[in-house]
Amino acid sequence: MREIILAIETSCDETSVAVLAEGKYVLSSMVASQIDVHQAYGGVVPEIASRQHIEHISMVVQEALHTASVRREELTAIAVTHGPGLVGALLVGLCYAKGLSYALGLPLVPVHHLEAHIYANFLLPEPPSLPLCGLIVSGGHTDLIYMPRHGEFQLLGQTRDDAAGEAFDKIARVLLLPYPGGPHLEKLAAHGQANLNFPRAWLEAGSLDFSFSGLKSAVINYLHTKKQQGHTVVAADVAASFQQAIIEVLVARAVAAAKRVGAVNLCLAGGVSANNALRQALRQAALEQKLHFFVPESKYCTDNAAMVAMSAHHRLQAGVVADLSLNAAAVLPMTNWVNDRPVHNVVDNGYNSGKKA
Ligand code: KG4
Ligand code: ZN
Repeated sequence: MREIILAIETSCDETSVAVLAEGKYVLSSMVASQIDVHQAYGGVVPEIASRQHIEHISMVVQEALHTASVRREELTAIAVTHGPGLVGALLVGLCYAKGLSYALGLPLVPVHHLEAHIYANFLLPEPPSLPLCGLIVSGGHTDLIYMPRHGEFQLLGQTRDDAAGEAFDKIARVLLLPYPGGPHLEKLAAHGQANLNFPRAWLEAGSLDFSFSGLKSAVINYLHTKKQQGHTVVAADVAASFQQAIIEVLVARAVAAAKRVGAVNLCLAGGVSANNALRQALRQAALEQKLHFFVPESKYCTDNAAMVAMSAHHRLQAGVVADLSLNAAAVLPMTNWVNDRPVHNVVDNGYNSGKKA
């Protein structure tokens, strides 16, 4: 029988449903964005996000099936993101997925949101081979992951404070740009010069971790000082300088991580990977280091259910399914589903083992 997965993603502010056939063909990928609703508040309001998901989920599922020209009876599995994310938002997608799975008698495939971001790279016409090294840059996470085979992951580095997307959004906010700030900041930066020297946190020698709070404070202090002095600032230059500082660290760490584990495939993933300056800089660095570089199409960088379906395809092949007791989790560590063990940070730089504060 032809494998046809319907996947649901509601971890934050996008109600997304996709239909994937044979682990290869995206028959539909629908995203109902709530950006307009949250924009008035300058960020995602969790309670409103949950209500919006409830209002839209049935319609988005129907549209995904209609666009894919697939009937419910033709589906072979239901996949759903069960964490990490906003728990109320996750629960909407999870309950709907459980209902479908139960009513249609289909396996329920649990998917980890960050793992799904990595799997967005497998939606490419020419996907990466394994092992690969992945840099996930989203609104809530900045992680470097080594993936020797499907379902096996090692954490090489992560942010110790703000995530990259969070830093973009916070700086965009102080520059009075609309939510979500990342794409707006990128547009503004394109008109500016990176002529301001904001700090890069390189941390201890050998570390593959990130820290963006110092950069964020430096930009905010710069803006306050200029304001107090009565000087005008060139917002585009601030945006360009901030973006350059963050990209420089992301690129250097991603390349160093790939070299450290001897992976020739380097994948970028997560919402911030839609940033063209980052895509170009990492592509160039990978080329210079003779690494194969992969990045999903922009529409599969930000939250979407097609990546969830792709992750589910590989889980399903390995028999990883859940029962109806599956719960949503706001905080959910990645797991090695090949052996059901937690994913550990394998780079001991003192910080992670608690030797340094
Ligand atoms: O992966 P994602 O869609 O949601 C989470 O899982 O968090 O990532 C959203 C983040 C937001 O912080 C958003 O501002 C950022 O990705 N983002 C960007 C760009 N597009 C989205 N950041 C910088 N440049 C962009 N073009
Ligand atoms: Zn995401």
